[in-house]
Amino acid sequence: MSTLDHPTGAPAPATTSAVTAPASGSVAQWTDRYAHAVMDTFGPPQRVLVRGEGAYVWDADGKRYLDLLAGIAVNALGHAHPTLTAAVSAQLGTLGHVSNFFGTPTQIALAERLLALAEAPEGSRVFFTNSGTEANEAAFKMARRNSDSGRTRVLALQGGFHGRSMGALALTSKAAYREPFEPLPGGVEFVAFDDVAALEEAFSPAAVAERGGVAALVVEPVQGEAGVRSLSPGYLVAARELTARHGALLVLDEVQTGVGRTGSWFAYQQPEVGGGIVPDVVTLAKGLGGGFPVGAVVAYGERAATLLGRGQHGTTFGGNPVAAAAALATLGVIERDGLLENVRTVGALLREGIAGAGNPLVEGVRGRGLLLAVQLTRPVAAEVARAALDAGFVVNAVAPDAIRLAPPLILTPDQARDVVAFFASVAVPEDPAAPTAAPTAPTTDPTTDPTTRSS
Ligand SMILES: Cc1ncc(COP(=O)(O)O)c(C=O)c1O
Repeated sequence: MSTLDHPTGAPAPATTSAVTAPASGSVAQWTDRYAHAVMDTFGPPQRVLVRGEGAYVWDADGKRYLDLLAGIAVNALGHAHPTLTAAVSAQLGTLGHVSNFFGTPTQIALAERLLALAEAPEGSRVFFTNSGTEANEAAFKMARRNSDSGRTRVLALQGGFHGRSMGALALTSKAAYREPFEPLPGGVEFVAFDDVAALEEAFSPAAVAERGGVAALVVEPVQGEAGVRSLSPGYLVAARELTARHGALLVLDEVQTGVGRTGSWFAYQQPEVGGGIVPDVVTLAKGLGGGFPVGAVVAYGERAATLLGRGQHGTTFGGNPVAAAAALATLGVIERDGLLENVRTVGALLREGIAGAGNPLVEGVRGRGLLLAVQLTRPVAAEVARAALDAGFVVNAVAPDAIRLAPPLILTPDQARDVVAFFASVAVPEDPAAPTAAPTAPTTDPTTDPTTRSS
């Protein structure tokens, strides 16, 4: 019987695992194979991982790590969560994919769920994507459609990161990411981070007369890739007031901060972050599918929700029922298991524990919930990240002098105490070239060093 017999109803062939499972190998062997098979956009992998369970992952040599990065703020429920696994398997075994010529109950239920969590007003709608960059790409297109009264400019913040596709990259300020790909879509203007006066200038009559009206302002409530930098309380209120007055869209990029990461469903919902504002657009991805690729654009109110008309945007996979089932399961477990509360409790434990541990290498800890950065007193984040790996912790050197922690939302207090103990004792010699530093660390440039690069 050939495997082609299966679709006709015959049982799956006994050789399934031979078809799907890769052969075994050590970390070194897999790393070598990676170098010959995978495009070198990310540099060599720090480890090759084969399995995960809860907040732990294991590499191909059998070493266990406490995962404090969660696939860069993705695996909200940790690894191999039974509810998520069951939901994905059940949906794939029932109806795996349909085109967007058709709806599915999972897709519709997820859209309704997101609108409810967003407390979005009447007329609000959702567009589904597969990633954060695609969600921001859609938001950018919405901004272009908000062009009545001659609005041509899109404002974004210095330090902001919004993705790698051409539109999302145009909104991303980092020169090293942008410059090799110019010309990018035009009309984007960067304003100083957390600077209300600079924002007021960008909306001033002089700026509008000289450079055109503003179609949208795109902001991360907490800049993740820039090193976990929070906006001051009041910034988003000022941004809302200015955008509303000028007919510009206020787009909040909650790709990293959304879905419970900061201790509320969306970061802007915390009064000290959003001050009670209602945005026009929120983009989501990362944690939404608990590890399954899914993104979303939530458009608040009828005006924002109708900017993209029929035929003006599309995607083959966005809204796929398996992705939607993953997202529904993730949101359901976060609610059922009280994970927003856990994020706040365990986040405070990490923040206060690491900051108070008295390590002279640690200047302080910033961030909200389980999106934290440990600020170091020296630019040795790459060395600290390597020491963490050796000690069995996955962390991210998000800046030359800062370590990002974005663990699964299920992290327990005991696991957090293990992390505090690591940061209490980690040491890096004054000269990073000294013998205790790993020989594979010639640079701390986050665009080239695999231990410091971000998404
Ligand atoms: C705030 C923010 N927006 C957008 C993106 C891009 O998302 P993705 O990598 O899923 O395309 C990221 C990824 O790090 C992000 O942090």
